[in-house]
Amino acid sequence: MTANRTHSHAQWSSRLGFVLAATGSAVGLGNIWKFPYMIGQSGGAAFVLIYLLCIAMIGLPILVAEWMLGRRGQKNPINTMSELARTHKRSQAWVLVGVSGVLGAFLILSFYSVIGGWALAYVGDAIGGGFRGLDADGAGALFTGMLANPGVLLLWHTVFMALIIGVVAMGVIGGLERAAKLLMPALGVLLVILVGYGMASGGFGAALAYLFNPDWSLVTGEVVLAALGHAFFTLSLGMGIMMAYGSYLDRKVDLLRTARTVVIMDTVIAIAAGLAIFPIVFANNLDPGAGPGLIFVTLPIAFGGIAGGALLGLMFFLLLTFAALTSAISLLEPIVELVEERTPLNRRAATVVAGLATWALGIAALLSFNAWSEVLIFGLTVFDLLDQLTSKFLLPLTGLGVILFAAWCLDKESVRKELGLGAGAFSVWQAVTRFIAPAGVLIVFFSSL
Ligand code: PFF
Ligand code: NA
Repeated sequence: MTANRTHSHAQWSSRLGFVLAATGSAVGLGNIWKFPYMIGQSGGAAFVLIYLLCIAMIGLPILVAEWMLGRRGQKNPINTMSELARTHKRSQAWVLVGVSGVLGAFLILSFYSVIGGWALAYVGDAIGGGFRGLDADGAGALFTGMLANPGVLLLWHTVFMALIIGVVAMGVIGGLERAAKLLMPALGVLLVILVGYGMASGGFGAALAYLFNPDWSLVTGEVVLAALGHAFFTLSLGMGIMMAYGSYLDRKVDLLRTARTVVIMDTVIAIAAGLAIFPIVFANNLDPGAGPGLIFVTLPIAFGGIAGGALLGLMFFLLLTFAALTSAISLLEPIVELVEERTPLNRRAATVVAGLATWALGIAALLSFNAWSEVLIFGLTVFDLLDQLTSKFLLPLTGLGVILFAAWCLDKESVRKELGLGAGAFSVWQAVTRFIAPAGVLIVFFSSL
């Protein structure tokens, strides 16, 4: 299994470093921006329960499968799939799983960086006193004014990508791991302070009820689909990320235990983000169902009106920025690993090349909010096209490929040993990975077409 490990191939320095980096990848805009507004739109706690089920039955097994394949292949996702297909005497068509993974990472990072740029821009606004006295119209105008201005979007998208490139260029231990060890604790501290403020704000009871009292009448097929799609997105699955992260992983690390840790941290942080956001929303009589604008339009109204709002706003948008940075770092990694292994370029040059290509596509994405808002491909703006293409096609298909290969093509006994399972537990694992998880992905995939 490790015979083909090249000595130049990097490794995480410790299990903790790996857990923090993987959690850093998982915890991102999905947790702090998307999850709260999805709850707001789709039935509160009923959505949360369905989402938790998707995470347990589909997300966690696919996370383990990605790490397992990456650790066995020891290469970028494309070469890993090629290598595993060859050694298991399977068709080279499995390489497509790696291709769509890396392609997905590239496409997602291009627009993820644009949103990361919004977070940075709002950190700037918080510092500059830009939220002071904002009413609903003012907050709306602040956001639409930013979107309408390509120069501003380009500036922050560029700053964001430059930060990512700087970190990833420094390598697995000196870059990825070090950034996670710095940013994740900072994120945790900010979140605890913000939830503490939420508890004192007077809106906490309403927020708890909102998050934990299910309203099943709002649950539709679409909501179930959204929950499953989010289970993929939030764990960074189906993009080659976790495969790339697994390729730097020591054979001694317990995959199931580590996956459980990462999944729990991701979920706890998403719910904590809800407990930071909704108390402020309710205490200030704002609309919890505002959708994607919830944190960029609704929250600034509160930050503009309450005592200490500027500081609170600053902490909130720093939290969002830190979360976005560690995830974006992970999105760049599989692309860099590919370029590094497939070209004569060294790590630094590979990072700059991969980063610049992503940055350039990001420009097309940010122009869809202004200069190119009329440019439609299949009826969608570039930004929406990138989002839909990845979340509806590439992610589920890559995830499906990963789970099918791991469940059906690997040697059963070696998998059982690698996961440290007894015969009984292993048959549960097999049932889940061979049938339940693939069926779940397929159902969602076809019903979203
Ligand atoms: N998991 C990240 C989030 O929840 O925001 C987003 C993400 C990161 C998605 C990396 C995909 C990815 F490859
Ligand atoms: Na996440």
